[in-house]
Order: sequence, then C-alpha cells, then structure tokens
Amino acid sequence: MCGIVGYIGFRDAYPVVIKGLKRLEYRGYDSAGIALIDEHLKVFKKKGKVADLEESVNIKDVAGKIGIGHTRWATHGEPSDRNAHPHVSNNGKFAMIHNGIIENYVQIKNELQRKGYSFKSDTDTEVLLNFIEDIKLNNNCSLEEALRIALKRIVGAYCILLIDEQDPSTIIAARKGSPLVIGIGKGEHFLASDASPIIEYTKEVVYVNDYEIAIVKADELVLKNLGNEKQTPFITKLDMDLAEIEKGGYEHFMLKEIHEQPESIFDCLRGRLLPNEGKIVMNGVENNLDKLQNASRIIMVACGTSWHAGLVAEYVFEELCRIPVEVEYASEFRYRNPVINNGDVIIAISQSGETADTLVALEKAKEQGAFIFGVVNVVGSSIARISHAGAYTHSGHEIGVASTKAFTGQLAVLIMMALKIGYSKGTITEERYLQLMKDLESVPQKIKQILQNTDNIKAIANKYKDAHDFLYLGRGYNFPIALEGALKLKEISYIHAEGYPAAEMKHGPIALVDENLPVVFVATKDSYYEKIVSNVQEIKARKGKVIAVATEGDTIIPGMANDTLFVPDTDEIIAPLLSVIPLQLLSYHVGVMKGYDVDKPRNLAKSVTVE
Ligand code: AGP
Ligand code: GLU
Repeated sequence: MCGIVGYIGFRDAYPVVIKGLKRLEYRGYDSAGIALIDEHLKVFKKKGKVADLEESVNIKDVAGKIGIGHTRWATHGEPSDRNAHPHVSNNGKFAMIHNGIIENYVQIKNELQRKGYSFKSDTDTEVLLNFIEDIKLNNNCSLEEALRIALKRIVGAYCILLIDEQDPSTIIAARKGSPLVIGIGKGEHFLASDASPIIEYTKEVVYVNDYEIAIVKADELVLKNLGNEKQTPFITKLDMDLAEIEKGGYEHFMLKEIHEQPESIFDCLRGRLLPNEGKIVMNGVENNLDKLQNASRIIMVACGTSWHAGLVAEYVFEELCRIPVEVEYASEFRYRNPVINNGDVIIAISQSGETADTLVALEKAKEQGAFIFGVVNVVGSSIARISHAGAYTHSGHEIGVASTKAFTGQLAVLIMMALKIGYSKGTITEERYLQLMKDLESVPQKIKQILQNTDNIKAIANKYKDAHDFLYLGRGYNFPIALEGALKLKEISYIHAEGYPAAEMKHGPIALVDENLPVVFVATKDSYYEKIVSNVQEIKARKGKVIAVATEGDTIIPGMANDTLFVPDTDEIIAPLLSVIPLQLLSYHVGVMKGYDVDKPRNLAKSVTVE
C-alpha cells in the first residue's frame, strides 16, 4: 500500500510533492517523507501524517526541482521516523521510495550484511535499495542497469522511485503489482500512485505497466522493459476534475461521498438504463452476451465491501439469470487451487482496481483460461486492464477509506448486468424486467429522500455510540447489507460489530444478546419479512436493543423496535441500494462522535496493494 509522488521539471518540487502526498494520504498514513536534490540530496521524514512532516520541515531547506515523496502503510517495521521512506543507500547517494513488499528481502539482507552493509530501518525497501547500490558498485554500471539486474532477483510487488544525488536530472521508476501513473507536462513530469496529484497540472498521462522501467527527465520520458527494450508510452487523457477530489464544503470525504450517491448512481445508470425503450446498453455485456448467459457458473471475486456487493449479486443473478453463483474472497480463492472449468465466468469487483489479493487471483484464473469481467471504479486501473471485458461503476473519485458510493455503484452495475443477461436468456418476464428497470431508475430520487433528513440517524448514533458490540442481522438480499453495516461500523468507529444472517443468529450469536447489545435489523418489506419479524421477537425476548431499518409505512417492525430508520419502498432486489444508506450514516456519525478521523481510520488504507 502507500502513496508515491515524484516531480521533475522547472517548478520547486517540494510544494508539488507535498500537495500530491495529501491527495494520496488515503492510501496510508503511518509516516510521510520526501527527498529532494538541490546541491545535495536532502531527506525529510516523519512518523504520522503529511501535516506532521510539513510542520517539522523548515521551508528554507526545501529547494530543488526534483523530488520524490511517500506516505506509508507499514508492512515491514513499525510506523516510526526510522522506518519512514525515502530510504538512503549506504553510500549516501541514492534515495528511494517503495510501495509494495519484497518477499525475499531476508535472504538479500543477509547477503548484504555479510558484505558489510548496515541498515537503519527494518524495512524491505532499504534492503532493495542497498541491493541496487551493491550491484551498481560491483558492476560499475549505470543505476538503471543496476536496477534492472536487481529486479530480476526480486520476488514480490513494487512501485519504486529512485534518485541519485550525482544525477539531479533523472527519476528512475519501476513497477510490478503496485500502480504508477506518469503525468506529461511541458518541460516537466509528474509521477504518482494515482492521477489525483497530477490532475491540476496536466490531463495527459501514461499508466506504466508491470515489468516496465521509466527513465524520467524534465523533457523526456523513456519506457523500457526488463530486457532493456524501449516501449512506446501509451498516452491517455484523464477524465476527472479537481472538484471531484476536494471536500466541497463537507466536513469529511466520507460524508460528501455518502451524499453524492444520488448523483453517482445516476451517472452509473446514465445512457445504460433505458426503461422507456426497454433496453440496457452495456457494451461489455453485449459483446460477450453468449459467454455470459451460457456461463455454467459465475464466480464473484473481491475483498471487503466489494465482496459484499458480490454477495448481493449472488442473490440477484441466481434469481434473474438462473446461473449458479459463488462468491469468493480473492485471497482464499487465489491460494486454494480452485477448480475452474471451461464456461466459468469470473466477475471481479473492485473500487480501486488495484487490490493485490483480487489482482493476483485474477491473474491466476486467467492463466487457467477463465473469462474475466471487471466491475471497477477507477478507470485504467490494473484490474480494469487485466479483465477481458467490463463495466465501470462511474462513481467518481472515492477518497474516504470506508467505501460508500463505490459500493452502491457496484450494486447498480451488477443489477443492470443481471437484468440484461436474464432478459436475453429468457429467465425473467418482460413485465418484471421493465418493472425492475423502473425501480432502479428511481433509486437516486429515493436516496435523496433518505438524505434529506438525517437528524434521526444522528440521534440514534448518539444513543448507542458507547456500546462495546453491535450485531447486524438481515435475510435474503439484505443479509449482505447486514455484513456491510457491521464492516462500516468496525472500520470507522472501532466498535466490534458482527453481521449474520438473521436466522443463523439462533445457532450461536444469540448467546451474546442482553440488554446492552444493540442489534441492527435490516428488515425492509420483502419476501422474508414475516420471518424477520419473528427474529426481531427472539431478540426482544432476550432484552436486546433493536434498531431497525424498515420500509416507510410499515408499522409492525417499528412497533417492536427501540429505534427505526426508514427507507422508501422498492422491489426487494433493489432494496439493498436503499437500506445501506442509513447504515453508512449511522457508522459515520458514531465515528465522528467518538472523535475519530473517519476518512483515515487507524491501521487501514484505501487501496490494499499488498497481499
Ligand atoms: C471498505 O470500506 C474497505 N475499506 C475495504 O473493505 C475495501 O472494500 C476492500 O479493501 C476492497 O477494495 P477494492 O474495492 O478497492 O478492491
Ligand atoms: N514494505 C514497505 C514498508 O513497509 C512499503 C510499504 C508501503 O507500500 O507503504 O515500508
């Protein structure tokens, strides 16, 4: 994980890099650091956030037109000044930042120690840097050549930026597994983990591929493969603007993103969902309709919140398309030698498109001949590029570490896919197809309605914020929403929360219920409604406190619950898009009331680019 920024050109590098690091801070915030070359190599680094680094730096010391900066999510070595990047090599000449993990670093470290190398940090990064230095000195070769030789021995994932005090006109970069974008300006270049630090300077970017090395000068960009052959950089235009990555008057990105959902879902549906024409236009689906509707099995592969979207999709696809669906944690799927048959379709779900567990799982499945369909938010990301076909969620830039609008975007895309496939396959009637399209179309308006008055949610957050545990229960389409509600609460308010299928609760978790346990029921009006009413009774009988998400107009559930969060009525297939909204807000308010940094929860990072 972590964010990486680099600048080379005619401007002062420090402000460009610092600003970029702030944009990338969602990727990790254990420490921040920057290396510049003016007359000499200068390194500043500090445990904590980018603001702590800024405070510790004397602005008079930061001249230089070339700089690299890093914001860390620690994998090797605790968060500390010492382990912060950039690292400097033993001879004091080379500085490097790294995103990823070098898996065989112990062996290389031992070899280097035997040669007399010493290490100031516990990181794998410092080992790779000194390994490069050692190769350069032994072979008397260029830094670029030394890097190439080193990378051939490295096992693991990396995006690195490397600078040399003796060559202040070059940044050398390399990637495998961790993302790297290069922004092309006039007489300047910008390097970053994603496009957000680049957007205000240029819209022309190159996404560097795995196993490529970039030699970046102010007015020249050369890309090579590990065999030292030049590659032609493929320049793409960014489709993103600055307003998207700023808070726009909201106190937190998470709150802004929750409130953006009417718009982000509208954008996701726009031009695709055409209820008046009875059509769903999705080229990725259309072009592969045969493969998709005749799939013998669909395997959803994802992590975290995206995995929850996959769980909802399991119910939807099985109902509408009559295709068996399995939902897999990418990390488990990857390592258990899964059986993949001809005719299996993998749907990869990811906001960032960079999640390492998902990416490696897909690479493995692709090797075994699976067809991969990506449901991804970040355009041009690694998962989008490795997929055979796909559909973007168009949710816009999501910065809050807790995923909100990306989740509802995923649900909207997956439901549209299931509708299109089911209709073409003949597993749903025209009437139901048209009705579900209409229901989906009205989602943005209904979310707007939920967001109009959130005082009740705030009051409920205040009432329960001191609880030590929460239980979230739901059935059917709302079962994954119970899991998602629990994950949101854990992530940003650090309260232990568990999600369960409501009926499964009596097989164990019910032992936890007493008068101190808030139990959140996702209990909208659907075909499971009568059953969940009984489950609410079971909790009430044991004095649990019931918070219910219920359908407007319902009186039975609210009559039993201690507190109720209402959502507008809709078809049960569409309901998860609405029932998740009050749960996102509940967690947000609890987190804020407890005084936590909800946009950057402890120990987490937005984009988990390590396995
Ligand atoms: C969501 O709130 C989480 N922060 C996390 O579970 C996330 O959904 C997961 O890491 C997957 O990320 P992706 O969608 O970018 O692949
Ligand atoms: N493995 C490196 C470290 O722990 C880099 C982690 C990152 O990607 O931030 O410092």
